[in-house]
Amino acid sequence: MIKGVIFDLDGVIVHTDEMHYQAWKRIAERIGVEFDRETNNRLRGVSRMDSLNIILENTSCFSDTDKQRLADEKNAIYRRLLDGLTKNDVDAAVPKTLRELRNRKIKLAIGSSSKNAALILNKIELTEYFDAVSDGNNITRSKPDPEVFLKAAEYLGLAPYECAVVEDAYAGIDAARAGGFFSIGIGDASGYDRADVRIRGVANVLKIMDMPLDRRLG
Ligand code: G6P
Ligand code: MG
Repeated sequence: MIKGVIFDLDGVIVHTDEMHYQAWKRIAERIGVEFDRETNNRLRGVSRMDSLNIILENTSCFSDTDKQRLADEKNAIYRRLLDGLTKNDVDAAVPKTLRELRNRKIKLAIGSSSKNAALILNKIELTEYFDAVSDGNNITRSKPDPEVFLKAAEYLGLAPYECAVVEDAYAGIDAARAGGFFSIGIGDASGYDRADVRIRGVANVLKIMDMPLDRRLG
């Protein structure tokens, strides 16, 4: 029986994944490092500094101090891009689905590697839908480590096997599996065969809740 759903934020609840891409692209262009959407997909679910290390994987000329400066700069650009974010940037299916899940007494949490999660939830006015938020501020290891989801489940008072995780990141699906959660791939991860199920839109989470467990896993 699924009693809780843990949603990733960027790329699942709202398309801030595009803003992460734009911000990293600006940094990459400035320092003359190649960066495209394919590399960007590898950054989904990955912490800010781990993302920068992926972007710089073929260079060795940046010190830890340089890297910290670049990560801070990226975050400043990203936060400027977030300035104009409002609830109108959220697909109407999202609040509708969250409301319906709450009506069914399913507990809801955010499981995101981002340190900007609370800010984003406030801007899109969805904070009140979630019983718990586990984010980049309460973890020491980012996805594919399951820590962020294990914390979310703990905050909800549920065991991992009682929770589904909705993720657009391959690293997020790996994290969900490593933690013993039922994993639902969406967006980029709708092409990832390690996900227990793959869906096209958030509204389909409701259909999965309706399925008996053997069909869900079959
Ligand atoms: C999410 C995004 C990643 C991002 C990470 C850290 O997991 O999918 O692309 O790097 O959060 O975000 P932050 O807002 O803390 O830089
Ligand atoms: Mg994501």
